[in-house]
Amino acid sequence: MKGLILSGGKGTRLRPLTFTQAKQLVPVANKPVLFYGIEALKEAGIKDIGIVVGDTQEEIKEAVGDGSRWGVRITYIPQDAPLGLAHAVKISEDFLKNEPFVMYLGDNILKSGISSLVEEFKEGKANSLILLTEVPNPQMFGVAELENGKVKRLVEKPKKPLSNLALVGVYMFDPHVFEAVHSIKPSWRSELEITDSIQYLVDQGYEVHPHLVTGWWKDTGKIKDILEANRLILEGISGKVEGKVDKESKVNGQVVLEKGAVVKNSVIRGPAIIAAQTEIKDSYVGPFTSIQSGCRVVHTEIEHSIVLEGSEICDVGGRIDESLIGRKVKIFRCPPKPSVYRFMVGDMSEIGIK
Ligand code: TTP
Repeated sequence: MKGLILSGGKGTRLRPLTFTQAKQLVPVANKPVLFYGIEALKEAGIKDIGIVVGDTQEEIKEAVGDGSRWGVRITYIPQDAPLGLAHAVKISEDFLKNEPFVMYLGDNILKSGISSLVEEFKEGKANSLILLTEVPNPQMFGVAELENGKVKRLVEKPKKPLSNLALVGVYMFDPHVFEAVHSIKPSWRSELEITDSIQYLVDQGYEVHPHLVTGWWKDTGKIKDILEANRLILEGISGKVEGKVDKESKVNGQVVLEKGAVVKNSVIRGPAIIAAQTEIKDSYVGPFTSIQSGCRVVHTEIEHSIVLEGSEICDVGGRIDESLIGRKVKIFRCPPKPSVYRFMVGDMSEIGIK
């Protein structure tokens, strides 16, 4: 069985971060989202993994390499344009050949991994296994309607949903899916849709089985969901303080403080993770915060946030909450006179002030 991770796409919902960075490399608990997918496949015994890449391919190749770090083999499959999830399957046919495969969206995280699903698919006689989860707002998702334990119909963002079972970003297929991706036509948004491909399989009488996910699942395509994924991952971490903490500081709860990180006259309340070469001074770092390497947080309070590498946050005065701060960002206090705000902010940034 092979793996196919989709790591192209446009990432429009994560601008401005995605103007300069692949969304699959945005860190959750200081680890790129994409690495969670690679690890899930590896854990399920899948070692031959194709990664579909688009405009951000160089960056992804640099971060992932040949996969030897995980003991897997990575093959990169370039997609000229993000023409849809089913298009990504279509261009991967040579790599996937005649084997069944798991398709994993590169910006998704599934708490319970995929090992048991891969087993279920290998042992069963389904042509496709799709993962579903109950959601309170099915209007926002691709939704599956079931009949006699099998998938009957898939509807993209239904206005009047007949089910609350949303499609999770992990799918399993046997080679019949190629018949589907070659037969379907682009949708109104000019993409080859995976939902249409699965509907094709159902309509042709192939067996498409549902599997209900019990643990949490997150699609990190939007800031709110990245912060939520960060919170969920941090909830499960075990603390390890290897950096330097001075006598005036307190570190409580599950806190990972990497070697080379420095905490001075501050309170760190976990769960939180602070990477190497980051300095926290005269500050409060509260629960569900991830700070990457080479940052400075001085005379500031911050919680439930993610700070990417090389950023400096100084003398903010109030508490920063639910924020995603990019790389090499500077947030500072202006001199007292004149009393002003001063911004140099990229396109489509969002700033909330008190
Ligand atoms: P989406 O989040 O559905 O699409 P997107 O990345 O274009 O984001 P946005 O809607 O914010 O513009 O994609 C899910 C995953 O699949 C993501 O990791 C990107 C990847 N993908 C491809 O590799 N090729 C494609 O053609 C598409 C549409 C997505």
